[in-house]
Amino acid sequence: MNPWNWKESIVYEVYPRSFMDSDGDGIGDLPGVISRLDHIQELGADVVWITPVYPSPNADYGYDISDYCDIAPEYGTMEDWEELRDSLHRRGMKLMMDLVLNHTSDEHPWFREARKSRDNPYRDYYIWRDPGTDGGPPNNWTSYLGGSAWEWEPETKQYYLHIYGRKQPDLNWDNPKVRAEMHAIMEFWLEKGVDAFRIDAANILSKNPSFPDTGSDKKQGAGEEYYRNGEHIHDYYQEMHRKVLSRYPVITAGETAKVSPEDAERYTAPGRREMNMILMIEASKVAEGDDDLWDLKRWDLADLKGIIKKWQTELKEGWIGLYFSNHDHPRLASYLGDAGQWRRESASMLAVLALSLRGTPFIYQGDEIGMTNSGHFARIEDFKEQQALEYYRLETENGAAEEEVLAKLIPASRDQARTPMQWEDGEGAGFTTGIPWIGLNPNADEINVRRALADPNSVFAFYKKMIRLRKETPALVHGSYEPLLEPHPRVFAYIRALESERLLVVLNFSKEESELDLPAMTGTEETGSFTLLIGNYPDLADGAELPRYLRPYEALVFRMI
Ligand code: GLC
Repeated sequence: MNPWNWKESIVYEVYPRSFMDSDGDGIGDLPGVISRLDHIQELGADVVWITPVYPSPNADYGYDISDYCDIAPEYGTMEDWEELRDSLHRRGMKLMMDLVLNHTSDEHPWFREARKSRDNPYRDYYIWRDPGTDGGPPNNWTSYLGGSAWEWEPETKQYYLHIYGRKQPDLNWDNPKVRAEMHAIMEFWLEKGVDAFRIDAANILSKNPSFPDTGSDKKQGAGEEYYRNGEHIHDYYQEMHRKVLSRYPVITAGETAKVSPEDAERYTAPGRREMNMILMIEASKVAEGDDDLWDLKRWDLADLKGIIKKWQTELKEGWIGLYFSNHDHPRLASYLGDAGQWRRESASMLAVLALSLRGTPFIYQGDEIGMTNSGHFARIEDFKEQQALEYYRLETENGAAEEEVLAKLIPASRDQARTPMQWEDGEGAGFTTGIPWIGLNPNADEINVRRALADPNSVFAFYKKMIRLRKETPALVHGSYEPLLEPHPRVFAYIRALESERLLVVLNFSKEESELDLPAMTGTEETGSFTLLIGNYPDLADGAELPRYLRPYEALVFRMI
């Protein structure tokens, strides 16, 4: 089937729990999302991805599903979902649902059955192993929360595997019944008119069946070399495509950590008939520690340039989602920009980066108004999500000082991205009339949608302009990528070219003024001329010439003639 123009689209990610609460219970919901679609459309996004809204015990806020074919009451009803779908379609927009294939909740009926006895018909839906020779877990893998990836089940005296939390048992994808169940779930939503799936943890479904010990001593995710892009993973996606996807005008975007462009080619080159794109996650992890993800490391621009160059030049037939931020990372403006004095400039500079590369951009809610990490996180009680809570528990049990652990959690926690969307001034920030399920960022009176709409120089106004430019400029979507000034420690510069169109992008990733040595940079010497298409400092007129210096966090896009 010939699906819609997904390469030219802009995806907006909604984390429904924190987007808009319509009934005052402090939890965002589907009617809330519907009531704010004007905002998303005004921005210029075409596709709305909603993270899981299925019934869930919320150990991992929806990524632990107990029923794949219903809507959790806290988010609304199936009628609300249908209304969301129809409202989007009336606007010419698309709906992307989150699909969690790797694991279910331990409260899913399959797992409730599976854990009852070794010969239960659902036993083989999950991955069970006898204890290792020392009576402990079958191997030394660690989960993404830290600690063993295996949980002891005293009733039936075996361990089950959980790559994420212990309430998220991994499904056994080698079992054809599991695959058929998942295909049926996809068909259920496709028949209801969903336009796209974002596939969660898409490349870890196929595990090495001998479950060898790992030599890695990473605190989280040790052993992943035995299940990332595993032996049968491509068979699973090709089968899914053949049996289900090929019959619908649907687009798939797989979340895949630790992949190379070569791997991405295997998942997404059209002739392979697997997925349409994978989400290029690497840039959003540039500051993540190697052995402990909570040890944020100092990153420099060379790291980011290297990641972008690799993905922009080595991928040939495949396609990626451009993913600089989402609900699993601290706020973009705080992580890669400057959330203080240069917030407006750095947030809009990052918009130019995210919207000037080859791929389908994914914008996370709140980034379009330059939301920042929140100052309210101070005590462990302020945190809601399991990775942070589990880390705190394990580290303090091992004798680490509370303040030390908190100092790591505060800048790195994914809860930073989950504070409520800031709509307007006042208590509840327009998100809720009740008590929000997670603390509001204290800067909501200063940074919010209402203020952004009233200010022609807001981050939001700039995002809109940049999205418009991207839509009018095929070279930004499809063009080639040529890096410039590669050794420059502060300026990120590149050319995007398509046929006769050549665009120059220059980004100052620093608070300091930075010189642009242009002729050397472009090879155009005396003959070249540059016309400004967009800049994030309001004083530059359209058509302005290229300056000799970039101001702090300045971002400019020129047409080169
Ligand atoms: C993905 C989701 C994340 C979730 C995890 C386990 O990485 O984005 O929020 O915790 O998968 O499902």
